[in-house]
Amino acid sequence: MATIIPVFNHHPASIYDLSWNFYSASCPSAEFMVRNTVRSASSTDSTIPGKLLRLLFHDCFVEGCDASVLLQGNGTERSDPANTSLGGFSVIDSAKRELEIFCPGTVSCADIVALAARDAVEFTGGPAIQIPTGRRDGKVSSASNVRPNIVDTSFTMDEMINLFSSKGLSLDDLVTLSGSHTIGSAHCSAFNDRFEEDSQGKLTLIDTSLDGAYAKELMKQCPASASPSKTVNNDPETSFVFDNRYYQNLVAHKGLFQSDSALFTDDRTRKQVERFAEDQTSFFDSWSRSFLKLTSIEVKTNEEGEVRASCSSTNA
Ligand code: HEM
Repeated sequence: MATIIPVFNHHPASIYDLSWNFYSASCPSAEFMVRNTVRSASSTDSTIPGKLLRLLFHDCFVEGCDASVLLQGNGTERSDPANTSLGGFSVIDSAKRELEIFCPGTVSCADIVALAARDAVEFTGGPAIQIPTGRRDGKVSSASNVRPNIVDTSFTMDEMINLFSSKGLSLDDLVTLSGSHTIGSAHCSAFNDRFEEDSQGKLTLIDTSLDGAYAKELMKQCPASASPSKTVNNDPETSFVFDNRYYQNLVAHKGLFQSDSALFTDDRTRKQVERFAEDQTSFFDSWSRSFLKLTSIEVKTNEEGEVRASCSSTNA
C-alpha cells in the first residue's frame, strides 16, 4: 500500500496528498518507462535535459504542477511569448504514448513532467531523488496567467523573492533552484541588454556586475547581427553537466542573466552562492529539498483534475 505524504504548499489551508510510488499497483513500470524515454531522448539530443527542467519550472509556477503548460490552442499558456522558447514537449508526448499502451488512462501528464525533469537532472550528473506522484492534470491553461507568474531576467531580487514566496518557496529555494542554469541554453535576447556594441564594434558594459572578458565573449557569440534563434550555453565550461559550476561562475561575475548575477550581488544570498560554489554536496542536498517543494506547488488531486489521454489537450 502506498504511503500518503501530505504536501503543504504556500496556502496554509491546502494539503495535497501525493504518495511515494503512487503507481505501484496501477502501473508499476511508470517511472521506469518515463526514465527510459528521457534517457534515450537525451542521448540523441543533449539539449533535452535543460528543456525538460525548464518545462517543469514553467508548469509549476503557473496554475501549479498540473501540466497546464502542455495544453495547445489559442490563448493557452503555451501560446504566450514567454513560453515560445520552451521545448521538450515531444519527449513528454512520447512517454505518454507508451504509458497509454501499457497503462491506459492512468499516469498523469503532470507526473510525467515532474519525473522527466527529475530524471534529466540525474542523467546530467545531478542528485538522484525520489519524488512523490499522484498529481492530476489541470483543465485550465490561460496565457494571461503566464506573465504574472513567471520570473523575468529583469526582475529585482525583491521581485524574485516575492514571486518565489507566493509559491511557498524561500530565499534558499531561489538560490538553489536557480542552479538549474548549470545546464541548458539561452537566446541572445535574454541577456544582450547587459552590454552594447557601437558601430565600430566597441563594447560598452551596461551592467557593470558582468566580467568584461565574459561580456566580450558573449558579444562575439551574440553580435547585433545574430539571428533571433541563436543560443549560448548557460554555463560555458560544463554546459551539459549538472554541477555547482553555475555558482562558481556567479562568484567570477559570469552569471549569464542579470537575475543570476543578482544572487551574488545581493547581501541576502551571496553567502549561499559562495557556499554552493565551494561545496557541491551542499548544493545537491539543498537541491533535493527544493526540487521536492517545486514539484509540489499547488498540485491537483482527485476531482480537482483528470488524467489526460493526450498531454496536449484536455479530455473531452
Ligand atoms: C529565478 C529566476 C529565473 C529566471 C529569471 C530565469 C530565466 C531564464 C531564461 C531567460 C532562460 C533562457 C530561455 C531562452 O532564451 O531560451 C532560462 C533558461 C533555463 N532556465 Fe531559468 N530562470 C529562472 C529560474 C529557473 C528555475 C527555478 C529553473 C528550474 C527549476 C530554471 C531552469 C532553466 C533551464 C533548465 C534553462 C535552460 C533551458 C533550455 O536549455 O532550453 N530556471 N531561464
